[in-house]
Amino acid sequence: MTSHERWPDLQGIAYGGDYTPEQWSRETWREDVALMRDAGVNLVSVGIFAWALIETAEGEFDFAWLDDVIDLLHENGISVDLGTPTASPPAWFFAQHPESRVQTADGTILGFGARGMASPSSPAYRAAIVRIATALAERYGDHPAVVLWHVHNEYGVPVGEDYSPQSVQAFRDWLREKYGTLEALNAAWGTAFWGQHYTAWEHIGAPAAAPSVVNPAQRLDFARFTDHQLRQCFIAERDAIRAHASQPITTNFMANQSWTTDLWAWGREVDIVSDDHYLWAADTEGEIGLAMAADLTRSVGGGAPWILMEHSTSAVNWQPRNIAKRPGEMARNSLTHLGRGADAILFFQWRASRSGAEKFHSAMLPHAGTGSRVWREVVDLGAALGRLCEVRGSRVAADVAVLWDFESFWAQDLEWRPSVDVTHKERIRAYYEQLWRDGVTVDFALPGQDLSGYKLVVAPAQYLLRVADAENLNRYVENGGTLLVSFFSAVVDENDAVHIGGFGAPLEPALGLRVEEFLPLREGESSRVSWDGRELTADAWQEDLVLTTAQAVAAHVDGPSAGAPAITRNAHGRGVGWYVSTRLDAAGLADVFTAVYADAGIERAAQPAGLEVVTRHGADADYVVAVNHADEPATLVARGVDLVSGAASDEGFEIAAGAVAVIRTTHQ
Ligand code: GLA
Repeated sequence: MTSHERWPDLQGIAYGGDYTPEQWSRETWREDVALMRDAGVNLVSVGIFAWALIETAEGEFDFAWLDDVIDLLHENGISVDLGTPTASPPAWFFAQHPESRVQTADGTILGFGARGMASPSSPAYRAAIVRIATALAERYGDHPAVVLWHVHNEYGVPVGEDYSPQSVQAFRDWLREKYGTLEALNAAWGTAFWGQHYTAWEHIGAPAAAPSVVNPAQRLDFARFTDHQLRQCFIAERDAIRAHASQPITTNFMANQSWTTDLWAWGREVDIVSDDHYLWAADTEGEIGLAMAADLTRSVGGGAPWILMEHSTSAVNWQPRNIAKRPGEMARNSLTHLGRGADAILFFQWRASRSGAEKFHSAMLPHAGTGSRVWREVVDLGAALGRLCEVRGSRVAADVAVLWDFESFWAQDLEWRPSVDVTHKERIRAYYEQLWRDGVTVDFALPGQDLSGYKLVVAPAQYLLRVADAENLNRYVENGGTLLVSFFSAVVDENDAVHIGGFGAPLEPALGLRVEEFLPLREGESSRVSWDGRELTADAWQEDLVLTTAQAVAAHVDGPSAGAPAITRNAHGRGVGWYVSTRLDAAGLADVFTAVYADAGIERAAQPAGLEVVTRHGADADYVVAVNHADEPATLVARGVDLVSGAASDEGFEIAAGAVAVIRTTHQ
């Protein structure tokens, strides 16, 4: 049930944020630790961008200031998540190794003066990151304040892909390793098309800017290679630290906000999964994207408790319009992450920076100081988390899995697809959103993994589907599972080549159909779907379906497929496969899910609109985490004690507009 073998040596829920003492005087450090204690902070991340101040010239280290900071924090009972500063190599490094700079697809060489990765394929960079990670681990591996290692910062952001000569050389080596022979590479990449046949490894390059669309299989392999190179950098640092230190090691992901790294593979390499999450101001229901990020983070960590490494107390500074959080919003965000499995609630950052590119970013301690609303809410949140110690280690359980496959997203994002209106991000959000509105808790999953524990598997955007993974999904249905698949799925194999047998062919057993032709609509055009006398609204996409064993459930009223099936249901073995061949709006998707839940035996929790409820299951009790996003109070039917307010009830709790509650209750 609980798994904290690798959890940092800390009491209760971790609370704190990124701390940059290098930007402040020693007098300010003393004020910082006093205020941290006031706020209930017990963990801060230190050193993340401080390479230039730790290694002042190659191999010359100045640990004095860092020793003092870590000792000061320790004396005040605040633990340290020690960063390796490899996301911002010093000026001297690039001066000595100009070849380590990242080159973009159009040949631009990225300069110094911001932050960001050097070329992950640069031997000089690899040597330098191992040197600094080793030096830090040797020095602080035994320090009692250091409870966690924070390697690098957000791999793949702001740049991941590198087209420099060093990267091209490494790409060729990676391809040789993968394919063995040029013949195999030519076959996988389909190089007979447009005369791209290779006769020598040295002729192969990165998919840099070219006169027209670059070979999609080459681009897909380059995405895999990029992910691999970044991961090798992490592994090099991790292993250097492990040689001298025994604390757990993590690196901060960006769940559904970064796409360069295959987080399933990364989840296997870290000791603990951690994630950074920021709201998108343009998304007026950002809490849904937030919940999705939290569920994905938990899933890539195999369900274990995870660390929210960064979120913001209020506005960020890097969007076109940076919307400040309103009173109570920060706590709702934090508690949503906790409800979905986070046992550490951390922020970027502790104290707002006066200088530099991020001075307009919010912080726990804002420029306005301790007289501010944000500070008061930070103190209140720290106190509330202090009352939630016992939630730690409990787990979230889900009956539904939504497929999330980075490889498929990389492939679908390439050029010259049938319609620019069809994107994985849009469909996954739409399907997830309906599940969220229905109060159904979900895990994310890969199509090839064991899915037998789920009553329902949803595939909103599985454009690339390996034959073996399709067989896994077919077996899942045969053995009694319910599968819901959206259009433009199972189209290509792992080389972005159309499946033999045509679109959707590998899923024919489960879905009982094939797709003869895609029929995208024009921009702005909508269409109607008729289902049992009701009319649903759709747009963007139709398909010409050939039903083999599936039954038509709903038909197109108009558009290129007028009169033909739009939604189908197929009984296969002991289970059912549903297929939705058009882009339904939210009301239409709600109808689809109602029917699909009935097949899957899923009961919706009847909560008031806007009340988000997730349960964490502990060894001795369950914890119902309720977040009221509405402007009205909402009643949560539950028996137990609200650990946030201390109120107890045998019937239910009224949760004020915008408020949060965590009800300890007996096992459900
Ligand atoms: C990222 C970084 C932080 C900071 C924040 C600002 O998540 O990891 O260093 O730049 O963004 O939102």
